[in-house]
Amino acid sequence: MALHCGRACRQYLLHLAHDNVDFRLPEIKALLSLRNRPFDTSETFNEKSPFWQLNGLSEDDIRSVMSRTVCGKSAFELWGHGTTTDELRMSLLEYPAENMAPYLQQNSTYKINVYTFNKTLVFKDSIEKIDALDFLPFKGTVNLKAPEHIFCLLEDYGSDPYEIPEEPFHMYFGRWIADGQRELIRSYSVKKRHFIGNTSMDAGLSFIMANHAKVKADDLVYDPFVGTGSLLVACSRFGAYVCGTDIDYNTIHGVGKASRKNQKWRGPDENIRANLRQYGTESLYVDVMVSDASKTVWRKTAQFDAIVTDPPYGIRESTRRTGSHKDIIKPPEDFSGESHIPVSMAYHLSDIFADLLNFAAHHLVLGGRLIYWLPIYRPEYCEEMVPLHPCLTLISNCEQTLSSHTSRRLITMEKTKEPEVEYVRVFWVETPWSKDEIDKCKLS
Ligand SMILES: C[S@@+](CC[C@H](N)C(=O)[O-])C[C@H]1O[C@@H](n2cnc3c(N)ncnc32)[C@H](O)[C@@H]1O
Repeated sequence: MALHCGRACRQYLLHLAHDNVDFRLPEIKALLSLRNRPFDTSETFNEKSPFWQLNGLSEDDIRSVMSRTVCGKSAFELWGHGTTTDELRMSLLEYPAENMAPYLQQNSTYKINVYTFNKTLVFKDSIEKIDALDFLPFKGTVNLKAPEHIFCLLEDYGSDPYEIPEEPFHMYFGRWIADGQRELIRSYSVKKRHFIGNTSMDAGLSFIMANHAKVKADDLVYDPFVGTGSLLVACSRFGAYVCGTDIDYNTIHGVGKASRKNQKWRGPDENIRANLRQYGTESLYVDVMVSDASKTVWRKTAQFDAIVTDPPYGIRESTRRTGSHKDIIKPPEDFSGESHIPVSMAYHLSDIFADLLNFAAHHLVLGGRLIYWLPIYRPEYCEEMVPLHPCLTLISNCEQTLSSHTSRRLITMEKTKEPEVEYVRVFWVETPWSKDEIDKCKLS
């Protein structure tokens, strides 16, 4: 396959992690769009494959994506690829020599790695594969410990662990450019987090959410169901100023019962600010406060660059809102808060999402994004269940399966229109709405 082109139109290969498969495409697209770059790939693009070829990008674009992605493992400048060894060889021989030359110089050092997806090679086989590349004009010296240039042969043996073919379905060879940010999953693990709760969001997913939200330096990000602030931690890592609200006094003030085993009460300084301090982003902490998301406390003019949140599903934490004495149902059993929430009543899921979308429509900047999790009962799910709003465009909808019957979907929406009038409700599956009905529900 010919790759005749200069610097401007080189091809790049992304090697993606094989977990959170659904979240990868919106993440990479969002990171490219932060640089106003399109997602342009080959005709044979397969979203489920761990290898994606990208066109029309520069090495700087790729480095920028890799500096943020937690779905991407590594990126390479693609020198050749094929479905057989001969095809790979032909493709490599057609790659412009002038593109290779700077990395094959006599006084340089290099090494070649072999990576196989869905197959483990014995050492001898890897060496044979490296030796078979000796037609390439490497002039430098091999240095396995600290080479200047790293090359990689990547082989794809499909995704079925029970039917691994003898020969790979596809093979690629390229120059390594950068690794992604998979390391953040370990270094930000909630297990090592100063302040955690029963529903603290997993580090990897928090970073994926921040990426889907296109959070960038100096943005102002808001989480209306902030809990222990895991999403604020991830957004601040990318340079955003962060703030949040939660109905739970104890969580906001970092007091009350601890969530850790072997610890009865939260210690002093177990709070969201301390979490940001732990990762060196305390200067980006704006504040958090006790507030009920069903009754906004914000001025009409308050504007956020992104709203990133994980609303309560009523499973590990109750969905509740403040109410009047007339409305009292009874306080949830697990409610251990103080008298700051005088009474509480059920906060139905449909209302939570209606309020959230309405809030986002009014308080996001144009182009700002709302990212949230929608709990799903799988046997009944259909796309129409995703709440819509006339001012918010649905960007992506990715499933994370939790059990055979339940999952949650990560919904990404972008504000594309200012609300001209106040919409009293969003469209919700319980009442599928026609355009006439939507018009009727505008407040006059
Ligand atoms: C899924 S948890 C969020 C967890 C958070 N992302 C974290 O990492 O810790 C949902 C949060 O919503 C809060 N909540 C429930 N009802 C609320 C309401 N009406 N207004 C604001 N917050 C509410 C709960 O107290 C809980 O902390």
